[in-house]
Amino acid sequence: MTNPDTSNQQEQYNLVAKKFAERLVEFRAAAKQASSGVEKPAEALFPAFDRTGLGVAREFERMGNKPVSDELQSRADALGIEFEHIGLTLGTVLHGIDLKKTLPSELTKLVRDTLLARKVIFFRDQNLSEDEQVAFAREFGDLDAFPFGKPGSNPYILEIAHGPQSPGTENGWHTDVTWMEKPSLGSIAQCVSVPPYGGDTLFADSYAAYQGLPDDVADRLQHLHGINDYQIFLMGRGAGKLPDDIVDGLKQELPFGVSHPLLRTHPETGVTGLYIHGGFLRHDSLFDISSGEALSAEESKQLVAVLLKQHGRPEYTCRFKWQAGSIAFWDNRAAQHYAASDYFPHQRLLRRVTVSGDKPFYEPDQMG
Ligand SMILES: [Fe+2]
Repeated sequence: MTNPDTSNQQEQYNLVAKKFAERLVEFRAAAKQASSGVEKPAEALFPAFDRTGLGVAREFERMGNKPVSDELQSRADALGIEFEHIGLTLGTVLHGIDLKKTLPSELTKLVRDTLLARKVIFFRDQNLSEDEQVAFAREFGDLDAFPFGKPGSNPYILEIAHGPQSPGTENGWHTDVTWMEKPSLGSIAQCVSVPPYGGDTLFADSYAAYQGLPDDVADRLQHLHGINDYQIFLMGRGAGKLPDDIVDGLKQELPFGVSHPLLRTHPETGVTGLYIHGGFLRHDSLFDISSGEALSAEESKQLVAVLLKQHGRPEYTCRFKWQAGSIAFWDNRAAQHYAASDYFPHQRLLRRVTVSGDKPFYEPDQMG
């Protein structure tokens, strides 16, 4: 039975709500009339206190307000390739390609240009052997072997395997192998087995994430670098802490602690993106490359926390659901990724190959 007092309160509330809504509609209509003919820039449409959506809008505008250019689309059409875009500014499935076959050069170029335009691309139902996957990757450059994981029978394959005794650990936003002086340009991963639920990988647009930063944060980043190393691979994983002789030998062969900018100019597109790996970057290591001055540990850590949070905003992301035989090819210079660790104790197996890259740099003038 309804309480009469509550019922009266509800009626009173609804009267006020409806009256106020009518007044607001009138006010907004009048304001719209007064400003008719004046198109507001995107900056004025998004709230000043939250630039997330603006970052996406700016990036889409940079792309010509289209997922891909007309020129790229017409080349795809001519080659019989169908694009399935899964995000506004990143992520496209390419249908109509059999990667087991040697690709004609115009198709390889289309794949590369689509990667540059869309930051991460996907293929379904490929089921490549290890050697076929490596051969496909070689179409895009030299390859980087990976010293800290389990290789497949082909040494350029890294197995990313999780199951009942090893939950997924790639669930932090990152771009791959920033401990290298020349981090890999991109990674090509094929799914071999999927858990019954979950196990998706999320990708985030590093260009949009940069363009969506508050101005004061973007300004602060202009000359900042940080030191990256592979310390997390040396401790407490799998068989436990590595013996000193292995660690010492490794550090003599592979530089331990390399400096990279937090903003990176893409060497092929010229666009600026955020560039950070939260696991390899020493969070207290930020310094100004122009003056050589180090930030205080506190400011450095705070800034890193802001940047990692920025990349995780859902607006910048697309989400890929793996099937056995699916392939993802991501551009480490333009996107971050995050593998959801939500399927334990089930098994998930990916095989990854990485294409060699170049030394990250930042040239502010390349992008307006
Ligand atoms: Fe990764």
